[in-house]
Amino acid sequence: KGDPRLQAISQAIRVVPHFPKHGIMFQDITTLLLDHKAFKDTVDIFVDRYRDMHISVVAGIEARGFMFGPSIALGIGAKFVPLRKPRKLPGEVISEKYALEYGTDCLELHVGAAQPGERAIIIDDLVATGGTLSAGVKLLGDLFFSLFLGWGRVLLFVYIFFPSFISLVIVQCMWSQ
Ligand code: PRP
Repeated sequence: KGDPRLQAISQAIRVVPHFPKHGIMFQDITTLLLDHKAFKDTVDIFVDRYRDMHISVVAGIEARGFMFGPSIALGIGAKFVPLRKPRKLPGEVISEKYALEYGTDCLELHVGAAQPGERAIIIDDLVATGGTLSAGVKLLGDLFFSLFLGWGRVLLFVYIFFPSFISLVIVQCMWSQ
């Protein structure tokens, strides 16, 4: 709030009514990616915010979290960890199912991609019901707890950058012991 870059970022996101189905106001971030300044400002805002917070893991949610997460990871000096849809990751995974409006979906994470005690942020383009994001948070928590059962606690901070018509949502999960 108060950052003059936010309005331009918000305006660079195309709103497509009734996509992919009637009644949905689709927030299309591909137009933001076409606008170099808005794209760079978006990444810079997150990098500036998280650079000095000892974050070592940036986890991106498939698919649009992959479009912002790696740039933010490079900017803050962290590794990038993809949270993928089922049967995409070749190694040993842990999985988390979550509810969709109709049916369920699932996210997967490579075991060993992050370690207990690491600090992580989760990147995606938007939150609607929060189901996807909750699955991501649980996945990282489960990974750490499964590796380090009984230790640690999870503190969850949800930062919603832009009001109502969400552009980017970031969750910072801090695992401390
Ligand atoms: C969209 C969006 C978020 C999720 C938010 O992804 O990119 O990941 O929905 O919805 P929720 O808060 O209700 O869970 P989508 O399910 O369309 O998958 P995609 O990125 O692979 O197309």
